[in-house]
Amino acid sequence: MHTARFTLDPAFTVGEVDPRLFGSFVEHLGRCVYTGIHEPGHPAADEAGLRTDVLALVRELGVTTIRYPGGNFVSGYKWEDSVGPADERPRRLDLAWRSTETNRFGLSEYIAFLKKIGPQAEPMMAVNLGTRGVAEALELQEYANHPSGTALSDLRASHGDKDPFGIRLWCLGNEMDGPWQTGHKTAQEYGRLAAETARAMRQIDPGVQLVACGSSGQGMETFAEWEATVLAETYDLVDYISLHAYYEEHDGDRDSFLASAVDMESFIENVVATCDHIGARLKSKKRINLSFDEWNVWYMSRTEAEVSALDWPEAPRLLEDVYSVTDAVVFGSLLIALLRHADRVTVACLAQLVNVIAPIMTEPCGPAWRQTTFFPFAAASEYGRGQVLDVRVDSPTYDTKRHGTADLLHATAVCAEDGTVTVFAVNRSQSEALPLEVALSSLGLTSVVEHSVLADADPEARNTRTEPERVTPHPVTGTALADGALTATLEPLSWNVIRLA
Ligand code: AHR
Repeated sequence: MHTARFTLDPAFTVGEVDPRLFGSFVEHLGRCVYTGIHEPGHPAADEAGLRTDVLALVRELGVTTIRYPGGNFVSGYKWEDSVGPADERPRRLDLAWRSTETNRFGLSEYIAFLKKIGPQAEPMMAVNLGTRGVAEALELQEYANHPSGTALSDLRASHGDKDPFGIRLWCLGNEMDGPWQTGHKTAQEYGRLAAETARAMRQIDPGVQLVACGSSGQGMETFAEWEATVLAETYDLVDYISLHAYYEEHDGDRDSFLASAVDMESFIENVVATCDHIGARLKSKKRINLSFDEWNVWYMSRTEAEVSALDWPEAPRLLEDVYSVTDAVVFGSLLIALLRHADRVTVACLAQLVNVIAPIMTEPCGPAWRQTTFFPFAAASEYGRGQVLDVRVDSPTYDTKRHGTADLLHATAVCAEDGTVTVFAVNRSQSEALPLEVALSSLGLTSVVEHSVLADADPEARNTRTEPERVTPHPVTGTALADGALTATLEPLSWNVIRLA
């Protein structure tokens, strides 16, 4: 195998990482909320019914912004059902997931959950533009954010939340391009509704930050035309356009699966091009940034049947994918793709946080544990803060059915404020180690602090309730920094974090 190489130079950067890149997502879906983050009566539950074992893992994961309450759920969401005394809240049909929503956990509990995570946790609230519209979005905004002296702000205070929630970041609906979405719309219909909602929300508060729905995936038939139409209506009124992407292994084609980030990067670049095209057409100096507010590995093809078989249960086990080492390597590569585009992707949400396609799993009345995907996220959030350096790899390649010829090495590097640098790298080869050489003499680095790797002799290895620590990252020896060059060997099918000081 020939050596993969790249050069790092502080003069060549992509951009500053926005902390919001390490966001996640809590949807009323399956057991994400109920028995995930909220389980009164659990031995680890606090006075509010929040699981403290889960809170500790959420803090360790390093998530920032948390999107809520959906997802597809939001298109049937009546925010007023989710406030006031919990035992008086109505039970409702959740059409998106054929479940019964008890509303025991609602808006106030979500804000309390964020506060308990810590100051890094920021709300990202979606409004329902599927079955509702401008008026209900404004009412929710008034209830949540207006200080006092109006019917809805005083109602919030009477519910025990005197202080406004201060929600700055709002999603204008969810996946409105998808025929599965309750209240699905054409781009023209949605673009007008999003523009009217945004204009009105800015009348309450010109400082709100708004995300318009982009496509539910690059493979949607309406992709790009959707973004162009929506942005033509909303360009001056919104700050972000959303992207969603999920990847899974199809028919045992692991080579293609390992190159999933090729698709993610092209998706990002195509949306950037579309945003800038509309900006140019409008002769606007404003730049629309990207909110990649749903991304993950998700074995979606296995779960479609699960949902249609449901008969309106409460908090069923849904989308509880158990991730392998291979899944975690692909997941790490998706994080690399986001970091490599940190100049334009300034919000991203790992979908989701607990139990539902999640890095954290729980058992009702039982333990909580880390999935394999927990580790790349936690490392990227901890060490991926600062300036992303421009990485252009010279790498051996391989051929894939879905993504053409792909580099075996996928990498990025982030320079922190204190001058330390972290290289994140994936070796996509299933069978061969990849020698790596990085020229970095202009960075003034002298030592390797740590090279840690997530890899396993069994690429199918997973963490489970009975074996919660079967897979964890381990240290690599032999990685060296001398004469302005880093040399390392990347194990086959591995995610690597190399920290340099
Ligand atoms: O994250 C799971 C679902 O995926 C969300 O509800 C929806 O927005 C997307 O299709």
